[in-house]
Amino acid sequence: MKRIVLALLCAACMTSMEAKTLVAYFSATGTTKAAAEQLSKQHNARLWEIEPAEKYTADDLNWRNSKSRSSIEMNDPDERPTIKQCTDVTPYDTIYVGFPIWWGICPRIINSWLDNNLSQLEGKTLIPFATSGSSSIEEAEAYLKRTYPTLKWQKGMLLNRR
Ligand SMILES: Cc1cc2nc3c(=O)[nH]c(=O)nc-3n(C[C@H](O)[C@H](O)[C@H](O)COP(=O)(O)O)c2cc1C
Repeated sequence: MKRIVLALLCAACMTSMEAKTLVAYFSATGTTKAAAEQLSKQHNARLWEIEPAEKYTADDLNWRNSKSRSSIEMNDPDERPTIKQCTDVTPYDTIYVGFPIWWGICPRIINSWLDNNLSQLEGKTLIPFATSGSSSIEEAEAYLKRTYPTLKWQKGMLLNRR
């Protein structure tokens, strides 16, 4: 009997530990989404998609067009696209923050998400991860550290498929 109670207590304890990690990500075309899903499985973490109120169309994502939505957003450091639904980050100690690299850094919607949750993110461990065509994550990492210096950033991970 004692053993069963102990096993149940351990299981409850494990569940609460696992629930303390969150994988929050934005993905415009599914690549980062696949990486986020894998990461959440690996770490038994909750998965949260950061969705824009208005989805990005193929035209919006055309980086060759200086007037496309993504080009306009990335040209303005203060641009903060609206997010569809807020996230409750309070239960988590460690949060993986994922995105596709856009013009070397994170899309502005990641700034929207960080700004919206800034006070609740203080003191938590934040680990950026990204997918890209070829760029490394270093510029994005440096940008995040510079823009949100009070947050506890750890080394980022580029999760491109080989
Ligand atoms: C607007 C835009 C800008 C991009 N800029 C870069 C870049 O600077 N460097 C790079 O390697 N890839 C760049 N890419 C490619 C994406 O980072 C890559 O395809 C990513 O895996 C897409 O992820 P997603 O499917 O989750 O949206 C860009 C893509 C878009 C749409």
